[in-house]
Amino acid sequence: MSPKRFPEGFLWGTATSAFQVEMGRGASAKESDWFAWVHDEENIAAGRVSGDSPLDGPGSWELYTEDFRIAREELGNNSIRLSLDWSRLFPRSTEAVEVEVERDERGNICGVIIDEGAMEGLRSIADPAAVEVYREMLSEANRVGLTVFLTLYHWPIPLWLHDPIACRDDLEGATKRGWQDQGTIVEFAKYAAFVAHTFGDLVDLYATINEPRIVSQHGYMTERGEFPPGLNDPGPFRVSMRNLALAHGVSYDQVKRWDKTSVSDKGPATVGVVVVLMHYEPADPSIPEDVSACDFVRYMYNEWYLNAIVKGDYDLNLDRLIQPDERWPRTVKGCDFIGVNYYARWLVRHKEKGWGRFDYEITTGEGEISEYGWETYPRGLRHSLEWVYDRYGRPIYITENGLADSTGERRTRYLLDHLDVLHGVIQGGVSVRGYFHWSLIDNFEWADGYKIPFGLYRVDRETKERMPTESAAVYRGISRGNALPE
Ligand code: BGC
Repeated sequence: MSPKRFPEGFLWGTATSAFQVEMGRGASAKESDWFAWVHDEENIAAGRVSGDSPLDGPGSWELYTEDFRIAREELGNNSIRLSLDWSRLFPRSTEAVEVEVERDERGNICGVIIDEGAMEGLRSIADPAAVEVYREMLSEANRVGLTVFLTLYHWPIPLWLHDPIACRDDLEGATKRGWQDQGTIVEFAKYAAFVAHTFGDLVDLYATINEPRIVSQHGYMTERGEFPPGLNDPGPFRVSMRNLALAHGVSYDQVKRWDKTSVSDKGPATVGVVVVLMHYEPADPSIPEDVSACDFVRYMYNEWYLNAIVKGDYDLNLDRLIQPDERWPRTVKGCDFIGVNYYARWLVRHKEKGWGRFDYEITTGEGEISEYGWETYPRGLRHSLEWVYDRYGRPIYITENGLADSTGERRTRYLLDHLDVLHGVIQGGVSVRGYFHWSLIDNFEWADGYKIPFGLYRVDRETKERMPTESAAVYRGISRGNALPE
């Protein structure tokens, strides 16, 4: 039988994010909301966070050369997905840099005009040491033959924009309110422009925002309150979703405007977004309340954001009807691809909470459950990809897919099963351009710290040595051969 081959030029890589891997070897980045959040005594005591510190992480800020060597030589990859830490580049506020903000007839930010003078101002505020390290890092990736897939926002926000403890204690009274305020959108546009201008000669492939729904939900609408600022209220959740959609538009514009240099056939700038598309099913398909709760969850979690950034439909009251005042066409700028993170299947059950449409709970099914409590369900990847391609018609990258597995024994099966489904989906005509496994190395799993190991490589917490799990060799075979094993 001929091997199951992937298309010519397919990108094979792994994904990481700055906050999850950079610290651990010395230079720390203490100026973000996430840094404050995971070290806050009250959060630790309340169990919102694990008490682990990113300061004990894999140390990629110093050890990126080793990471890229592993990715290229040992895994045979031709690409890598990583993010920059906004608070490292701008530990000091950029708010004084003057720009022109365009608003639509409803007052929503639909553009930010940044001129050369403003860019000069941003350059004078940025931390030169951080700029230099990131330049060396991105240059090294290119030098060894890894196409960079750069995420601008993978969750930490500078503390000067978001004080998560003040917001947790009193959101209304707080002054630095992160994604609750449209001012954060303007500062994000400046950061995006600066990144595209400063590193555009090393990057062609950008994601503006990683998983806006997860940031919004886990920050504003869970009982545990595990992400900053740890609230449990649908109101601020909706505001965060809306502002993160507006932030995509303005940052898309900036990257297109400021990156004029190509390093590959994707240049100067191919810009998209990364969403997580889990597979949802009603817990009991014979109970109408479960079926309608599941429809709502699919809509709110998988569809709402994409409708906003691709069509300008901002269904603010989540009634699934777009009223004239919920159509915001001027905020739509573009989305060249959709990055899909796919991990698991979830079952949705109706549960009374007094929150109207938000009256549901999410549980696992009867399949194999990972160490993170997520159900492995490769077939769901097919549903997610076919649905998103059919509905939005954009090329797709699988920007994350992986398993929490400390022994590494189950990861190989997970990888092969998902790639087999992916191969079939591509054969069926869905345009998928690359696959990034989460993750290259074990890293800091946000509120859950180091308990949850996703790496193809283990990391010794003391020596920082990277050690392959058995899946690393399997992934190398696939990546080098651009095909599944026969
Ligand atoms: C995030 C990663 C995270 C992974 C595993 C995704 O939601 O983008 O940062 O580590 O899932 O939980």
